Amino acid sequence: MNVLILGRGKTGSLVAEVARARGHEVAVLCAADNPNGSALTASRLTSSDVVIDFTTPHAVLGHIDACVKHKKNMVVGTTGWYNELPRVKQLVENNKTGFLYAANFSVGVNLFFDVARTAAAALQHQYSGQIFERHHAQKKDAPSGTAAAMQKIIQAASGTDLEITSFREGDVVGMHELILDSPADRIYLCHDAKSRRGFAEGAVRAAEWLAGKQGFFDFKDVWRGL
Ligand SMILES: NC(=O)c1ccc[n+]([C@@H]2O[C@H](COP(=O)([O-])OP(=O)(O)OC[C@H]3O[C@@H](n4cnc5c(N)ncnc54)[C@H](OP(=O)(O)O)[C@@H]3O)[C@@H](O)[C@H]2O)c1
Repeated sequence: MNVLILGRGKTGSLVAEVARARGHEVAVLCAADNPNGSALTASRLTSSDVVIDFTTPHAVLGHIDACVKHKKNMVVGTTGWYNELPRVKQLVENNKTGFLYAANFSVGVNLFFDVARTAAAALQHQYSGQIFERHHAQKKDAPSGTAAAMQKIIQAASGTDLEITSFREGDVVGMHELILDSPADRIYLCHDAKSRRGFAEGAVRAAEWLAGKQGFFDFKDVWRGL
């Protein structure tokens, strides 16, 4: 495929590396190439089969609007825009394009979501719960999209809204903890990303899966089929 990657930061650079290694033709636009999404014109997008976005919460919505209106399939890894999800879903459906997003593209975290969903039963048996997330000091949004997704999953499974505590320190790639505490014992569940490679591989495989599809997809619902 011809893959256009938006963002040449920590994750976007690795997505480009993984996409090339999987045999795709890759072009990358960084912030200077694409002020306020201005590079995403119909003629620039014609040559791309799919656009993958790992930019910033501030930039991503303009990118989504441009790509969807030009009928380009899109994979979005950028977090911090989910209050706009209903509007984006409607836009995608109106334009009949393919759109796939994830708070976290690693298979390990998506398995961890399933573990958290199961563990949420504890909240109906005298346990209290807390979510902690740690990321590198440059991360722009808090809480992390992954922690917010976990909170939503636990809310749906147990009816309980857990508090999220965020830490920004050093160069932590991404650590998420769910602690369940009762008078009798304590359960610790932790996912600790060792590198960004898992995110990059998941995003490229998601783009391959999305080829030729229409619809609005969340990676947590499709990763098993990749
Ligand atoms: N879903 C997942 O699995 C996952 C995994 C990791 C990260 N993320 C999310 O992905 C996003 C990026 O993370 P990161 O760690 O890679 O951040 P990062 O290193 O800060 O990279 C973001 C990049 O986006 C660029 N950018 C900003 N506006 C742009 C525009 N209009 N067009 C093209 N590029 C633009 C920035 O360029 P300049 O440096 O020139 O400003 C920067 O290089 C964050 O929202 C993060 O939470 C998601």
